[in-house]
Amino acid sequence: MRKPIIAGNWKMFKTRDEALFFILKVSEKMPEKEKVDTVVFAQAPLLRCLITRQGEELRIGAQNIFYEDEGAYTGEISGPLLESYNVEYVLIGHSERRQYFHETDEDVNKKIKAAIRNDLLPIVCVGEKLEERENNLTNDVLERQIKNAFKDIPAIEMKDIVIAYEPIWAIGTGKTASAEQADEACGFIRSQIKKLYGPVVSEGIRIQYGGSVKPANIEELISKENIDGALIGGASLDPDQFIEMANAPL
Ligand code: G3P
Repeated sequence: MRKPIIAGNWKMFKTRDEALFFILKVSEKMPEKEKVDTVVFAQAPLLRCLITRQGEELRIGAQNIFYEDEGAYTGEISGPLLESYNVEYVLIGHSERRQYFHETDEDVNKKIKAAIRNDLLPIVCVGEKLEERENNLTNDVLERQIKNAFKDIPAIEMKDIVIAYEPIWAIGTGKTASAEQADEACGFIRSQIKKLYGPVVSEGIRIQYGGSVKPANIEELISKENIDGALIGGASLDPDQFIEMANAPL
């Protein structure tokens, strides 16, 4: 039985006070960490004020990491800095980073290695565009993204890695993938991990679904065999909705 993981991706939302208000509202209402992992991914400047309030239950994650540990890379954020703040998770390869900041599969691979090097737990995002799904290319895209993301990543490191399947056409659109579509894609991702690493890793790795997850649809999604949690954008910004979704797996 894989432990569920529910994560909120705040993207470029929340000021310092809004973030602290959120943490205050939810901190006593998160599920026990033994039963569910709950994470919020915040913009880098918020991490300093949030990390000091990281409770036993709610963990804090960064939305990005550069693939070098230091150097003349203006505006980037390094693994050692995140690790020095006791940040635990890092989001890698989100479709918005691929779209707006032109991150490639190779960048994703290098960022996963940087996260591992700095004892950070990667959540690695994959997912197809609408036209790729409409042209029956979903599995081709997922196979390529998985193969390239995990190039030269040893099996021992896979135990702490989470994969998030986020069909781009479902992100921010309100058009949630059906539970069946999401389970099929997550099952295919699991099969690709099995090809690369064998059944022990593929059965142990946690795969989230992301893309217009809401309190109304999360239970059906996470009830599916291949779906071990959710990566939530818009609905995670509201503390009451996040509390409801974080407790959904119980
Ligand atoms: O990373 C999660 C995000 O991309 C999903 O966004 O607003 O569709 O839940 P949303």
